[in-house]
Amino acid sequence: MQTGQHVWFIGFMGAGKSHWAARTADVLGLPLIDLDAALQAATGRTVAALFDELGEAGFRALEAEEVRRVAGLTAPHVIATGGGTPELPGVWPLFETTGRVIWLDVAWPELAARLSSERDTRPLLAGPDWEGRARALWLKRRPVYARALEVWRAPSEAQVQALALRLQSTR
Ligand code: S3P
Repeated sequence: MQTGQHVWFIGFMGAGKSHWAARTADVLGLPLIDLDAALQAATGRTVAALFDELGEAGFRALEAEEVRRVAGLTAPHVIATGGGTPELPGVWPLFETTGRVIWLDVAWPELAARLSSERDTRPLLAGPDWEGRARALWLKRRPVYARALEVWRAPSEAQVQALALRLQSTR
């Protein structure tokens, strides 16, 4: 498998993975894959419905299958992962042998503010004390996300352009 081809965006729910992956795909002229959207298209179900019908374990199995499919694509893509994707067993070697990983690291108060208005589509944020549970999950996941070699803390158009320049010089 060719190395360095895909650009994988990782980070917690609400970090802006879909937005910045789409911008990056545009600037690089590469196709975009949003893992959650791809799963929804493949199953005809929303993420919330998949959690309801299959449970979280069933959703994770589908997510892992989708990551393997995408990792196996020979053409380079920009990929927005789900917040839990980096915790899937065996996923990091797939990320690292098929491209580069960019972590969108957003401070908790900012994430909480964004997520409070976007809870409906996210089954992990349903129910009481969503903010306490989400913050605990964010704290647990940060060391997992931190394996990424590249971290964007204040993503901007300039950062996307800088990435494009770096990639052009290595391709
Ligand atoms: C999840 C994040 C969601 C989606 C699912 C589970 C998670 O994606 O995959 O609800 O475990 O953090 P986003 O990060 O795009 O919200």
